[in-house]
Amino acid sequence: MIFFRSAKMGNHLIIAIDGPSGAGKSTLGRMLARELGLLYIDTGSMYRAVALAVIESTSTNEQDDVAVASLADRIEIDLGGDPDSLHVSLNGHDVSDRIRDEDVTEVSSIVSTIPAVRRAMVKRQRELGQRGAVMNGRDIGTVVFPNADVKFFLDAAIEERAERRLAEEREHNPQATYDQTLADITERDRRDTTRADSPLVAAKDAIVIDSSGQSIAEVFQRMIKIVREKQR
Ligand code: DC
Repeated sequence: MIFFRSAKMGNHLIIAIDGPSGAGKSTLGRMLARELGLLYIDTGSMYRAVALAVIESTSTNEQDDVAVASLADRIEIDLGGDPDSLHVSLNGHDVSDRIRDEDVTEVSSIVSTIPAVRRAMVKRQRELGQRGAVMNGRDIGTVVFPNADVKFFLDAAIEERAERRLAEEREHNPQATYDQTLADITERDRRDTTRADSPLVAAKDAIVIDSSGQSIAEVFQRMIKIVREKQR
C-alpha cells in the first residue's frame, strides 16, 4: 500500500521529467511543482525504499529477483510532505535520509532492473499521479504516463552531473572523491540505459533540455514557459 499526503492540488496536469542521475530533475521538479501547485513525486525514492528493504531484510538477497519482487509487493512506502521537504517512510519509519546513502543508491540501481519490481512501482506511481503531478524518474514519459501533458528529458554532460552529485555526496560523506563519483555515475548510466525493461530513453515527444553550463534559474524559466504555453 502507498499513501501520499501533500499540499495543494492545483489541477490534473501531469508533467513527466526523465533523465540520468545528476541532471537536475529533483531541483527543477520541486520548483515546477511549487510554482504550479502540483504534487511532486520522486519515483527514484520508491526504488530506493525497495533497496533499503532488501538491505534490511535478513532473508532477501538482492540478486534473487523473485524474492525482491515479493518484498517490493509487501512493503509500505509512504511519500509525504511538500515539494520542499519530502519525507519517505518505509513500513512506518522515516527513511528520508537513509535512502540517500551510497549502499542504497547502489542497490536501488540493481533492484530497479527487475521487471516485477518495476511493474509494482509503476502501478503505485500511476495511482499517485492520476490527479496531477510533477513526476520524475527514468520511465515516466515512456511507460508510467505516456500521455503526460508535458514531457521533459533533462540531460547534462557527465562531468557536470558528477560534479553536482559530488557536492551532494560531500554533505554526507566528506571523503567522497570526484573520480569515484564519476565512476559510479557512469556505471549507473550504463545500468539505466541498457536494462531490458524500460531503459532510460527520451520519449519521442519529450522536450530534451541539456542543462550543461546553464543555471538552474535559466533552465527553470525555460521549462515553466513551455508548461504555460501548453496550458493555454
Ligand atoms: O533518481 P534516483 O537516483 O533517486 O533513482 C534511484 C534508482 O532508481 C536509479 O538507479 C534509477 C532507478 N529509477 C528507475 O529505474 N526508474 C525510475 N522511474 C526512477 C528511478
